[in-house]
Amino acid sequence: MKNFFIFLIFTGFISCNHSLTPEEKQEYSDKGKEIVQASFNALSEKLTEQMKTGGAAKAIPFCNVEALPLTKQLSEKYNVTIKRTSDKLRNQKNKPSERESKIIDSYQKLISEHKEIAPIVEMDSNNNKHFYAPITVKANCLVCHGIVKEFVTVKTDSIIKSLYPNDKAVGYLEGELRGIWSIAFKK
Ligand code: HEC
Repeated sequence: MKNFFIFLIFTGFISCNHSLTPEEKQEYSDKGKEIVQASFNALSEKLTEQMKTGGAAKAIPFCNVEALPLTKQLSEKYNVTIKRTSDKLRNQKNKPSERESKIIDSYQKLISEHKEIAPIVEMDSNNNKHFYAPITVKANCLVCHGIVKEFVTVKTDSIIKSLYPNDKAVGYLEGELRGIWSIAFKK
């Protein structure tokens, strides 16, 4: 009888342990990286185009209308859900889930300890696979996410505030963590 209970506890542990094999981790890591790269390229290509023809005044309203449809389009292409999220949001529609908030916090902690941050692959309790990768601030992000009056002009800031009255995504320095990519794979 005692052995039977031990057996139950043991199998219980196994069924609660949602782990991926090293091969699966590699597979989803490769796929995740590819999707993130394609999404980044698509977004930055359009952004650069808008910046060239009309500066931030044109690029911001463009992002406001096009950023989410663009990631949605790519989500359909790759049969996944692609999301960009942050602890300091511009668009409330990009709000992090509980798990995503935890991942952002863990990256922030690693950064504060001067440790490396790397993508994460994991499986949730429904056996869905997820890929998370950090998004850091580059020099060319500062016109729209940097310190106001230093990198973000007053005019740009007022355009941002008119579209996103609760914007929290200015004041960043180059190299800081802006947020994460979150890719959810479908079964
Ligand atoms: C021309 C201005 C502009 C530039 C340049 C820009 N962004 Fe943004 N960013 C925006 C706008 C506008 C949004 C809100 C988009 C939306 O409505 O979904 C946004 C949203 C985001 C989000 C989604 C989370 C949130 O807060 O809503 C991330 C992450 C992000 N930007 C990172 C970056 C990074 C990294 C760079 C540089 C490689 C960058 N941005 C350059 C304007 C800009």
